[in-house]
Amino acid sequence: MCGIVGYIGTKQAYPILINGLKRLEYRGYDSAGIALINGESRIYKVKGKVSDLESFVENKDKSGTIGMGHTRWATHGEPTNNNAHPHESQNGHFIVIHNGIIENYSRLKKRLEDRGYKFKSDTDTEVLANLIEYIYLKGKVSAEIAVRLALTKVIGAYGLLVTNKTENNQIIAARNGSPLVIGVGKNEYFFASDATPIIEYTKSVIYLNDYDVAIVTKDELTLKTIKNDKIIPKIQKLNLDIGEIEKGGYEHFMLKEIYEQPKSIKDTFRGRVSTETNELILGGIHNVLDKLINAKRIIIIGCGTSWHAGLVGEYLLEDIAKIPVEVEYASEFRYRRPIIFPDDVVIAISQSGETADTLAAIKLAKKANATVIGVCNVVGSSIPRETDAGVYTHAGPEIGVASTKAFTAQVTVLAMMAILLGKERKTISDEKYERLITELKNTPEKIKKILTHDNEIKKIAKLYKNASNFLYLGRGYLFPVALEGALKLKEISYIHAEGYPAAEMKHGPIALIDENMPVVVIATKDKSYEKIVSNIQEVKARKGKVISIVTEGDIAITNMADHIIEVPESHVVVSALLTVIPLQLLSYHIAVMRGCNVDQPRNLAKSVTVE
Ligand code: G6P
Repeated sequence: MCGIVGYIGTKQAYPILINGLKRLEYRGYDSAGIALINGESRIYKVKGKVSDLESFVENKDKSGTIGMGHTRWATHGEPTNNNAHPHESQNGHFIVIHNGIIENYSRLKKRLEDRGYKFKSDTDTEVLANLIEYIYLKGKVSAEIAVRLALTKVIGAYGLLVTNKTENNQIIAARNGSPLVIGVGKNEYFFASDATPIIEYTKSVIYLNDYDVAIVTKDELTLKTIKNDKIIPKIQKLNLDIGEIEKGGYEHFMLKEIYEQPKSIKDTFRGRVSTETNELILGGIHNVLDKLINAKRIIIIGCGTSWHAGLVGEYLLEDIAKIPVEVEYASEFRYRRPIIFPDDVVIAISQSGETADTLAAIKLAKKANATVIGVCNVVGSSIPRETDAGVYTHAGPEIGVASTKAFTAQVTVLAMMAILLGKERKTISDEKYERLITELKNTPEKIKKILTHDNEIKKIAKLYKNASNFLYLGRGYLFPVALEGALKLKEISYIHAEGYPAAEMKHGPIALIDENMPVVVIATKDKSYEKIVSNIQEVKARKGKVISIVTEGDIAITNMADHIIEVPESHVVVSALLTVIPLQLLSYHIAVMRGCNVDQPRNLAKSVTVE
């Protein structure tokens, strides 16, 4: 959370910083600020979005070939002008922007206050700025040494950029736990929380590792650890196109990403499923395949939508590969002293690859000697670098805060894993293997067909946009889809929604049902179809309004429900991939009609790098 961007070179920094902040706004958007250095430094910061910052600086001096910017998601101190970054140290020697949390900040603050420091904000970042300055002045050391020494005193996570008054041709960047990428240009360097602000300028990047410090002028980058060990920078090439991070004519990123799913799913199995022979190759887990084949248990960890994908994974892996699976919220797993055996395989799912709880859970699993596999979308992010093996989802950049195409890509990867393991463990026949692969290959075309129902879905959205509550029901593979549908609605429209296993409804939620309660029932044809028909009857008997996702040609539910949305017939194994699409569209349209900011819902951030 929080986005940071920086520039040092020969161009004017301001346009680069503002564009970069706009690209990073998904990481936080409650306040924004920039520092520009042109001999002297100027700081502009405001409560609000990057567009508010733009208006604020409109008639101000924006010159400078060195600068850094920040878009904030508040952790310490509410969103105010004072708490916005950048933060300047008391005597003006250092300016800092920071993403992460300094856990021991109150102790450090107290010590600094005892030594005469006064604070203008409630943030942990200002403590860091003053700590660096205190060490710098007291120890009469260089800015670089002051930064490194200060970081040895810090407990917590940081991705940070620091400028200083004395050596005002330099930016110092450091990372521990919060991501930081440096773009390498000709006589210029770019800094950012992820590569999206950088790709329009250069495709050569250096991903900082934990405890790395980069000391950068426009002509030179020196990389070392905070303990002063020199490191040779590893320059990597970005495989990303500018078009992938623009709206491309859609009103919102979320809508674009929903519509991209036929393509993104194809990208997920590109190079992995042979078009001719149906052979399945997951190169990223080749080195741990034996462990997976022989695993007595798989533990899946994740947060939010990724956790929902994990639940679908549980059904897939148990159903197809017959391996027992447990799915855990990473945040619970890491704190509840779980029993982990060395022959367990832990699958960590994360779109961003940066979620703090998931990262911490991985560290715990590794400590217990389990094999850890990552299923991540952002290439080069922290989780893929922490895990023993992994499969990238390759869904392309997901910018809308509410996850859509990342979910279907995650489920696609889990389905591929389950089918591969089913084949290797001989828990499915060759015929079944062929059938499942074919089903998977057919999903993009089926999703295209579902997207043609968008207008019908919009009409349904119009009827229910003012509801205060929604209930989502599903059984089996479709229960996680019910959870995901409810989460999407909550996240972007602020309507309270709950997902429930349909059969559990009678143990509580049924009490909520009356003529004002829309109930979304995911009820495609599978072995529990008859049961879910009964559940719908129970809702109708209490005058609830039923919106049902059904298989094309359905009769029984179509006659009962108030509204239906059809999806093409498919094997149950891919049903989650299809049925989630109308739910994404329904929440999208409801949110738009309610005037909500779909791509940047209140209080949320796309990448949650704090506990
Ligand atoms: C945040 C986002 C969710 C996401 C979750 C997990 O809460 O708003 O959309 O599902 O984090 O993120 P990850 O990047 O680990 O999948």
